[in-house]
Amino acid sequence: MSRFSITTPIYYVNAKPHLGHAYTTIVADSLARFHRLCGDETFFLTGTDEHGDKIVQAAEKAGSTPQQYVDAVSAQFRDLWPALGVTNDDFIRTTEPRHKAVVQAILQKVYDAGDIYLKNYEGLYCYGCEQFLTEKDLDAQGCCPDHKVPPAKISEANYFFRMSKYQGWLKEHILANPDFIRPERYRNEVLSMLDMGVLDDLCISRPKTRLTWGIELPFDPDYVTYVWFDALINYVTAMGWPDGALFARFWEHTDHLVAKDILKPHAVFWPTMLKAAGLPVYRHLNVHGYWLIKDTKMSKSLGNVVEPLAMRDRYGLDAFRYFLLREMRFGRDASFSEEALVGRLNADLANDLGNLFSRVLAMTHKYFGGQVPDPGARTAPADADLGELARNAFANYTTLFARLEFGQALESLWELVRALNKYVDSAAPWALFKQGRTDELAAVLYTLLEMMRKVALFVWPVMPGTAEAMTAQLGGAFDLARVDLGAEAQGFGGLAPGTALAAGSNLFPRVDPPREEPAPQPAAEEKAKAKDKAKPEKKAAPAPQPDPGVIEFADFQKLDLRVGTVLAAAPHPDADRLFVVQVDLGEAAPRQVVAGLREFFQAEDLVGRQVVVVANLAPRALRGQTSHGMILAVRRDGGMELLTASGAVAAGAKVS
Ligand code: ME8
Ligand code: MG
Repeated sequence: MSRFSITTPIYYVNAKPHLGHAYTTIVADSLARFHRLCGDETFFLTGTDEHGDKIVQAAEKAGSTPQQYVDAVSAQFRDLWPALGVTNDDFIRTTEPRHKAVVQAILQKVYDAGDIYLKNYEGLYCYGCEQFLTEKDLDAQGCCPDHKVPPAKISEANYFFRMSKYQGWLKEHILANPDFIRPERYRNEVLSMLDMGVLDDLCISRPKTRLTWGIELPFDPDYVTYVWFDALINYVTAMGWPDGALFARFWEHTDHLVAKDILKPHAVFWPTMLKAAGLPVYRHLNVHGYWLIKDTKMSKSLGNVVEPLAMRDRYGLDAFRYFLLREMRFGRDASFSEEALVGRLNADLANDLGNLFSRVLAMTHKYFGGQVPDPGARTAPADADLGELARNAFANYTTLFARLEFGQALESLWELVRALNKYVDSAAPWALFKQGRTDELAAVLYTLLEMMRKVALFVWPVMPGTAEAMTAQLGGAFDLARVDLGAEAQGFGGLAPGTALAAGSNLFPRVDPPREEPAPQPAAEEKAKAKDKAKPEKKAAPAPQPDPGVIEFADFQKLDLRVGTVLAAAPHPDADRLFVVQVDLGEAAPRQVVAGLREFFQAEDLVGRQVVVVANLAPRALRGQTSHGMILAVRRDGGMELLTASGAVAAGAKVS
């Protein structure tokens, strides 16, 4: 068994979480789940960064004390993660006593080793910003661009970490360990930083006269430590450095995950700090790009943030997680848009994966009574090429995922999903059935069901809920402890013949694209030109009349069709042909609908049935009983059939 540990940055609590934070944390979760699935012993850490001027300012703005403020915002992060399916093992806050103790112990150690010294620091200080500015930060008048006043030249003593001393060592370490920083572009960026000249020593303190919301230096009570010497140490605090069991087990198996905004602190400050403190370094630093909104970085300061919970509520958690991992090439920037998300949802999830499940389950019901057919003596897929393709897909997926190439990993799994759909078409189970070729039919459907079971396992790190639903539809229960991913990638035949399958599957209903913005109006000039061209004597052509036989999409959208389950049906007291039906539409109380179904159905035939209801029909009294909607049905020779969904859906699900 190997070990794997993964961290996210600890996020600043000066604003609430957004899609950028959700991305890093969902990636970390998918990796942690992937390693658990591979049988690795895993530790997954996230948390919040709670000291510094920015936090004090944000608290003042919110009218609370720093402590009240950080408690409230940190809780928003902590509570968001389970709602996004995130399974972190610990959540660390830099204001916890366990963290203060470790920061002070490490500071003392580095100080004792002679790598922290006091130096006079002279610089341009803006009292409004409460920070030092460089010449580059100033506007043309030499003022602070935010406060429009010239900064003060102040001189103050501060503590510095002798980072330059470890520059040569760091470069060697990066050269000797090609995947220490990855992807490679960030490794190259760091190497060129190190080649540019001597590193500045790192200022690690603030005098308490300017900032008190921080951890006191153990060797000088007039100072607190500033930013990185506090924040980065969280990673070892959580593992119980110096003598915690987690530290011994996991530290040297740790992967950090960050975006490129904090590359330098993680790639330069942190390893040199560890070296100076006599600790081994982490294993990998994994760096991703930014999510952009229309070419601009999404950030709290720009206010263009996407709310992760809104996306989950609109499109479903697993579709959201899938999109994030599928769409961003790890290391590069990517654009976020709901159009792109809906595109993926409809194509990859509804059309490819969802459709595969619903059609194969339906055929198994039709031809084998809903039980996994017995493939006889077969121990291999009914189609050798398909078996080969599947083995490659699983092997590539595993390799690529471990290398954080999530988009390509999912793409190789989807090559299999699409091949399975094609296999349904080419093997044509309906024809085999018609021709009475039952053995072949059993082998084909068994192959499909067995492959679907494997796909469910492999997709679990990204879409855990869906994977568990797929496994359940195939008559099993997802049991992490019993998965052997290596064996699944190669073997065949794990699904037991005779297993009863779910009645149906509707994993990913298609979603309408978000409403488009109105088309841009032609410029005034263009309009004028168009007018000139029109013949002056002729009046403008009348607007085309709509074809009376068709309706506009907007008209269709007025209909609110819902799927619900019949809870009860009673004969109408005053009408022979009517039932008074109670339908569960997922509302607070059942809906009463009066329906003309009595000629065709017994009350007990209706109870438990899924029906489609026109839910926004104006209420109407039918012989003294009010009907709040209409049940849709279709006549056939000598009878009537109810309209329904092909698989079980939630009460009140909208038909679109
Ligand atoms: O930097 N795209 O915290 P922070 C992708 N407290 N990821 C994004 C993103 C975007 N547009 N915006 C934010 C800090 N992120 C420090 C870290 S660690 C010891 C201390 C994610 O709240 C991404 O992971 O500014 C980025 O690195 C992090 O949020 C920055 O979070
Ligand atoms: Mg930031």
